[in-house]
Order: sequence, then C-alpha cells, then structure tokens
Amino acid sequence: MSKNDVIIALDFSDKKETYNFLEKFDKEIFVKIGMELFYAEGPSIVKDIKAMGHKIFLDLKLHDIPNTVGSAMKVLSKLNVDMCNVHASGTSKMLVEAKKALEGTNTLLIAVTVLTSINQELLNDELMINKNLADAALQLALISKKSGLDGVVCSPLESPIIHENCGKDFLTVTPGIRFAGDSKGDQSRVTTPEKARELGSNYIVVGRSITGAQDPVAAYNKCYKEFVG
Ligand code: C5P
Repeated sequence: MSKNDVIIALDFSDKKETYNFLEKFDKEIFVKIGMELFYAEGPSIVKDIKAMGHKIFLDLKLHDIPNTVGSAMKVLSKLNVDMCNVHASGTSKMLVEAKKALEGTNTLLIAVTVLTSINQELLNDELMINKNLADAALQLALISKKSGLDGVVCSPLESPIIHENCGKDFLTVTPGIRFAGDSKGDQSRVTTPEKARELGSNYIVVGRSITGAQDPVAAYNKCYKEFVG
C-alpha cells in the first residue's frame, strides 16, 4: 500500500448519504469510517464499501483492558480493513494485544496519542498528567512504536518530531487539513495539504474541505495533487 495518500473522512450519519457521496467518484479512494457511521450501520457498511473497491480506515479508537481490546480487535480483524486504531493511553499491554489480534492481516494499527480536543489545562487538571502536551504526545508515540504499532494520529505539525524520534517508517496520519482560504471550522491548528507534505505526513485525513465542497471530486483531486503529486 502506498505510504502517502489522502483519506476522506466519511462523517455522514447513514448509508444513504454515504453512498450518494461515494457515487460521485469513478475511481477507488481511501475513506475513513468513524464511530457515527459504524454504530448506525454496523459492519455491513464496511463490507459494502470494501466491495466497491475503496480502501478503509476504521476509526473506532478502541480503549479498554488488554483482554477486551484484544478480543474486540480479533472480531474487527475479520473485516480486513486497511487501517484501524486504538488509544495509546490504553498503555503498552493493551497495544501489544491489539497488534497481536491483527496478526495474519494487512491491517495497519495506528494509535491516537492525545486527542486534539485536550488542551494543556485539561491534560494537567483533569487527566492529572503533569507534562507538556507535546511531550505527552511524543511519549505515547514512543510507547506505540515500542509496542509494535505502525504509526500514530497526530497534527501535521508534530510529524517531523515523531519521525525524528520514532523513525521515518513510523506512519503519521494527520487530520486538521484545510485548503488555503477555507474556514477552519472547529479545528484550531490547521495546515494545507501541501504544507502537510512538506512536514512529512504520510496520510492526511480530510473531511469537510472535500465532503462540504461544491464539487467534492474536484476538491479531492486538488488535495491529492497537492499532497501526493
Ligand atoms: O472535517 P475535518 O477535515 O475537520 O475532519 C477531520 C476528521 O478527522 C474528522 O473525522 C475528525 O473526527 C478526525 N480527527 C480529527 N482530529 C483528531 C482525530 C481525528 O479531526 N485528532
């Protein structure tokens, strides 16, 4: 699988809306199915979209005791998606069990380090982690790498330091992408596809800049050209 690609976030509430969107594309693309769509439609939506030939990142962010995550991941492994994820804060034993459950598949396992909705104050006062946010994210990336995971979800701005410390083959999957001049929406730190490429992101996850565009296929093509070339 190519190590640079654009992943479209299918942040739709049901199958109908999702398929209407996918019908616009006459080629195979890489898409992200999140909790909303998966909980609404179940595993059948993964099978259907896979049957259309698209690549899938199943973004369910598993986080529980190692045994439970291992068993759940074993079930998900049968879907044979291209990429799935867990929370790195589940710690190394959980990460190892998740990775073990995917043995024999080609599914890449990616960890979420610190959610972008967590700021410094929340990290210190509510999660009671007495560290700088960037250091906490890097520490979780290092634990993920040591546990055998394939990469992390992070901001494109964090890609260079993660590659520096975890190696260039450790994948960075980066949301927070906007075209120059687009509205940021609820994202606070955003970069363009071109900037993400310069910073060494491996996969960019793009939602509204493509799904909300007048012409989603043109927006995707522009994004792909800027990021992959
Ligand atoms: O519409 P937008 O491009 O902001 O969508 C980004 C996608 O990436 C959404 O599906 C969002 O849930 C996801 N995401 C994120 N930040 C993270 C992890 C996931 O924006 N840290």
